[in-house]
Amino acid sequence: MTLRLTVNGQAVEQEVEVRRTLADFLREDLGLTGTHLGCEHGVCGACTVLLDGEPVRSCLLFAVQASGAAVETVEGLAPGEALHPLQTAFREHHGLQCGFCTPGILMSTLALLRAQPLPSDQQILEMLGGHLCRCTGYQGIIDAVRAVARSWQR
Ligand code: FES
Ligand code: FES
Repeated sequence: MTLRLTVNGQAVEQEVEVRRTLADFLREDLGLTGTHLGCEHGVCGACTVLLDGEPVRSCLLFAVQASGAAVETVEGLAPGEALHPLQTAFREHHGLQCGFCTPGILMSTLALLRAQPLPSDQQILEMLGGHLCRCTGYQGIIDAVRAVARSWQR
C-alpha cells in the first residue's frame, strides 16, 4: 500500500508491504539507520522513535500503523554537523560508550523533557526503565539528562 507520513518534518510517500515493521521501513527503505534494532521483541528500547510525539518501539509497529503520523528519529535531532544539546550532554557526561542504546534513549529523553522540562530523578529512572544499556551503568545517562534539563531552564 502507499504509505504517507512525515519523518523528521519531511513528507514521505512510499509503497510499503503491509507486514513491514516501522523499524525496517525507517532503516531499510529510508536509510535512517540511526534507529537501532536490538531484541526486536519490545524489550531493549534501542529502536525507540517518536510517533506524534510519543515514544514507541518501532520494532513492534508496522509501518502502515504510522500512516498520517509524524515520526521523529535520532537523525532529526540535529540537522547538519552540529550536535543537539542532548547529544552534547550525553558526550560530556559519558552517557554512552558503544552507543547502541543511545538513539532510543535520546528519543525517550526528548519526549520526557518536552512533557516535564525539569524531571525528577524518579521520572528519569522511570523513563530509563524502558531501555537496556549494557555499557554505562546508567549514571552518566542520568547525569546527562539532569544537566540538559537544568540548562534548558536558563
Ligand atoms: S529492538 Fe525494539 S525494543 Fe529492542
Ligand atoms: S552505550 Fe553501549 S549499550 Fe548503552
